Amino acid sequence: MHSFRYVQGRLHAESVDLGHLAEKHGTPLYVYSSATIRDHFTRLDGALDRLDHLICYAVKANSNLAVLNVIASMGGGFDIVSGGELFRVVRAGGKASNCTFAGVGKTRSEIEYALREGIYCFNAESEAELRFINEIAGELGKRAPVAVRVNPNVDAKTHAKITTGKKENKFGIDFDRIAEVYATIAAECPHLEIKGLQMHIGSQLTSVEPFVEAVTKVVPLVRQMKEDHGLKFFSIGGGLGIVYKNSLDSGSADWWSREGNESHPLTIQAYADAVVPLLEPLGLRILFEPGRFMVGNAGALVTKVLFEKKGSAKDFVIVDAGMNDLIRPTLYEGWHQVTPVEKPVSTETHKADVVGPICETGDFLAQDRDLPPVKEGDYLAVLSSGAYGFSMASNYNSRPLAAEVLVDGKEAHLVRERQTLDDLIRGEHLPI
Ligand code: LLP
Repeated sequence: MHSFRYVQGRLHAESVDLGHLAEKHGTPLYVYSSATIRDHFTRLDGALDRLDHLICYAVKANSNLAVLNVIASMGGGFDIVSGGELFRVVRAGGKASNCTFAGVGKTRSEIEYALREGIYCFNAESEAELRFINEIAGELGKRAPVAVRVNPNVDAKTHAKITTGKKENKFGIDFDRIAEVYATIAAECPHLEIKGLQMHIGSQLTSVEPFVEAVTKVVPLVRQMKEDHGLKFFSIGGGLGIVYKNSLDSGSADWWSREGNESHPLTIQAYADAVVPLLEPLGLRILFEPGRFMVGNAGALVTKVLFEKKGSAKDFVIVDAGMNDLIRPTLYEGWHQVTPVEKPVSTETHKADVVGPICETGDFLAQDRDLPPVKEGDYLAVLSSGAYGFSMASNYNSRPLAAEVLVDGKEAHLVRERQTLDDLIRGEHLPI
């Protein structure tokens, strides 16, 4: 479910009017619903009940401290991909001992930092990295917990830029070489403690089949590695897709449990029903690394209409949020529902592109979209932008980063201040 809906003609996040927030904090403004995040955590956790499991939220999806704090307070762990993400987790009240560290290019300082903080496990992606971690752990007089990421060569059937489990992708070690790599670690890396095996085949998966294919392929290998090297866990990564199309309709509380819902082919129950029976017989701890599922539908980007422009080929609604605030539409052809904060009274629509102020043709939030009549000063909400929205934002065109608000019932907390012009040049120096 999510918590964005019209109440008396005005779009609310839980009990808070998005228009009021926009007036108070300005736009562009990211607004998150803590109830949605908690609901999604609880649903996933419940569906995995039969397994000894740990949900390691993928911090990259949304790394605001307050969001991380909600997850930490639910008992969640974290999947991190940099020293910066570990720093955020710790500052947000999360436990380093519940963190897995992913990524193909960990640096010495990141590895040292993670070892000192005592993370749960490094998910290593190459033999060179394993040897590097071994060397650093030896220098620090520690044993580093490691898992190897397997590349199962399975097609996740998602956008090419977010497919990660095919052999031509940079991620993981080839399936056929895994046994040999574990044997090498065991024989030659005394400062590594073999702890698990990990995979992640891609993001925004909308059917269960690729998960089933990958798990089915990897489970026998996990079983073998458990026997040979005493594995403690198997992480099946993240990737659960969410509803983007007309996501406002998906707000009802029973959404996730409804079967046969065409615009949501992958319910959490369908996912659990498919993977839990395959994983349970392993008798291992199972880790899940959801990012988008946890926060995607929990966020909206509120933006203001600056101008309207009628071209000979297209009409444009020019807003104050751009591709620097939300890059998904242009980078992945991501489709986000755009809806006015004030509910339109008529059903009349006209086709337009919703574009930002950035000097790039790719700077759009929506293209050829049927929009109700809008006028200058109106607020629009770009829905389902809680995942990979703010966390991928940049200062391109010297635009200050947006503010972020976390709603909890009737309360709204400013959890990140809008950047100032001074913030933009902080740390820069003239060469004098
Ligand atoms: N685990 C690992 C190792 C990952 O690389 C990722 C995402 C996740 C878990 C979480 O995946 P999720 O549950 O969110 O699908 N920026 C893109 C998505 C990039 C995903 C990167 N890795 C987008 O906006 O669609």
